[in-house]
Amino acid sequence: MTARRKIIIDTDPGQDDAAALMLAFGSPDEIEVLGICAVAGNVPLRLTSRNARIVCELAGRSDIGVYEGADKPLERPLVTAEHVHGKTGLDGAVLDEPTMAVRPQHAVDFIIETLRREEEGTVTLCTLGPLTNIGMALRKAPDIAPRVRELVMMGGGFSEGGNITPAAEFNIFVDPQAADIVFRSGIPIVMMPLDVTHQLMTTKARVARIAAIGTRPAKAMVDWLEFFERFDVEKYGSDGGPLHDPTVIAYLLKPELFTGRNCNVEIETTSELTMGMTVVDWWRVSGRTPNARVMRHVDSDGFFDLLTERLARL
Ligand code: RIB
Ligand code: CA
Repeated sequence: MTARRKIIIDTDPGQDDAAALMLAFGSPDEIEVLGICAVAGNVPLRLTSRNARIVCELAGRSDIGVYEGADKPLERPLVTAEHVHGKTGLDGAVLDEPTMAVRPQHAVDFIIETLRREEEGTVTLCTLGPLTNIGMALRKAPDIAPRVRELVMMGGGFSEGGNITPAAEFNIFVDPQAADIVFRSGIPIVMMPLDVTHQLMTTKARVARIAAIGTRPAKAMVDWLEFFERFDVEKYGSDGGPLHDPTVIAYLLKPELFTGRNCNVEIETTSELTMGMTVVDWWRVSGRTPNARVMRHVDSDGFFDLLTERLARL
């Protein structure tokens, strides 16, 4: 058996973040979660921290450290998304407040210390929200960049445009400066843009398969998905909504589900009109050096087969 993939998950739960966390928790033979870092994004940090701990306890993983990171972006004011995720960020399922405590160390220091401690090239950063914590860690400790095995992120878009503005996807829009630091860091990046996640619709048939699992975690997941999708169903007139964040974990488990190419990606950090846009040079017309593997296609049925099968293990 190949060695388990050591990962740090940086997240702003968020119902789709919860699905990603539960996919990771349902895959203990392949993935070792070294820690979970909460960041301000979908909702303020106090709630993303609470929500991460709720998901850990729901999955029976209160042994995993949850660390609190940045409560606002590096330079811009915080923009949140309660209109999508509800006022708690995990609306849809009614669960008890968490009892597990936050670890005392700041998430940025946890990231730095872990990367310096673990063997070089063995830790993967999995980012599901704004990149503020990673940007802060790289500013504070530039030596960690070459120590990262790879950074797999949900963020950005190109042919699909944006979802929070016509040009920008939410995670990048919230903290473009942090994203710019990450994309210039030299860390091997795998990018899951809206172009991929918009192929992963939580259709009634797919949600029904998860409901049929019949466990408490699966019921909570269904309640979260049915709440989370309502905004996108209204917006896109679709059967279900796009499921974003679990693509990051699915890539670690079954990379063959995804296809893409190495491209140069730069981040708009000056124009307010296109702030946070990921400028993806898919056709390599800029001559700029590729700095990310940008995914564009996914086996949608294979993705939901994997997600459903792993949720059933919790
Ligand atoms: O644009 C989608 C992303 O923004 C997802 O990570 C969602 O959870 C929000 O953080
Ligand atoms: Ca997220």
